[in-house]
Amino acid sequence: MTELVDSFRRTVKYMRVSLTDRCNLRCNYCMPAWGMHWMEKDTLLSYDEMIRVIELAAKRGVYKIRVTGGEPLVRKGAVDFIRRVGQVEGITEVAMTTNAILLKQYAQELYDAGLRHLNISLDSLNADKFAAITRGNQLERVWEGINEAIRIGFPSVKINCVAQKGTNDDEIADFVNLTRDMRIDMRFIEFMPVSDWENWRKRYIGIEEIQQRITEGVGELIPVYDGDVAAGPAENFRIPGYVGRVGFIHAISNHFCDTCNRVRLTADGKIRPCLFGKIEVDFREAIREGATDAELNDLFDEVLQIKPDAHNITMESPEKMLTSMTSIGG
Ligand code: GTP
Ligand code: 5AD
Ligand code: SF4
Repeated sequence: MTELVDSFRRTVKYMRVSLTDRCNLRCNYCMPAWGMHWMEKDTLLSYDEMIRVIELAAKRGVYKIRVTGGEPLVRKGAVDFIRRVGQVEGITEVAMTTNAILLKQYAQELYDAGLRHLNISLDSLNADKFAAITRGNQLERVWEGINEAIRIGFPSVKINCVAQKGTNDDEIADFVNLTRDMRIDMRFIEFMPVSDWENWRKRYIGIEEIQQRITEGVGELIPVYDGDVAAGPAENFRIPGYVGRVGFIHAISNHFCDTCNRVRLTADGKIRPCLFGKIEVDFREAIREGATDAELNDLFDEVLQIKPDAHNITMESPEKMLTSMTSIGG
């Protein structure tokens, strides 16, 4: 079976699979205050349908699956699904991105189901600020989840902080200092434009500025190379003497599109070749109309053909916004 090579000669090895667009938090940069228009239940792919798509992708060389949301743990049966994904021939790495609200409850079951890679979204270490950002007063639950994952021995725990000016940029040093004693990856992510362009422009901080603040306020950043070819886009560093690592995801200032190795399966069964832009290929309709494996493979080829070379977002290009992070899963 031919590998998933796109028209710019990039090979897709990694698929992000969103289980649901729903979430048990309401992060202010992710969801509008007035609420969301959720996907109808019957438009969601069933777990069997997702597994079919994953099996086909695995036959063509995809070996890493990251389960995302919304918040993946709010969908019933997520743990069993993780187990099934790990049993698909060819899939050697199963990962999840979660807000950790339900993690304390599920961490052991997830580990037993084969999950080893956990990325946890956490934008503030301050309870009041966390409550304001997420519109929910649950920072303690997140920490209980993180500590439980570490106690169980997940080999990879990464914390994602979307850096925003005037919101959490005064906490950069505090976040980095977590890596002094915790064997985690602390990752700073450049805020990407989702629905509200003006808000984005006001709050965006580039990685260069974040790194400068760290070297001035905490210590030298020593580059770390781990040679993981299926890794995501973070560039990793270590502060001398600290046990954890600090990572940077410069999605805007220095995009990594030329090494992009991934596609995204949305909860309603579309494959998006790029996080930005609305291009997608509908697998759900094809599956429900009885498509054969060969026909679904043709749809994968279509995805590869329309995968753009880069997102090309700059401060001056408002037409390229993300419509919704919850439906794509980041
Ligand atoms: P690892 O497998 O641990 O390296 O994961 P990851 O960093 O790819 O995944 P995670 O879900 O933790 O995402 C971290 C941040 O990177 C989120 O803000 C994502 O939206 C962003 N991100 C992930 N993949 C892409 C991508 O292909 N393009 C862009 N622009 N951002 C991405
Ligand atoms: N820009 C960058 N990252 C974002 N995330 C959500 N919205 C944005 C945004 N606008 C992050 C979440 C989560 C990951 C999947 O995507 O914090 O960690
Ligand atoms: Fe939920 Fe993640 Fe969106 Fe926050 S960023 S509301 S945790 S989906």
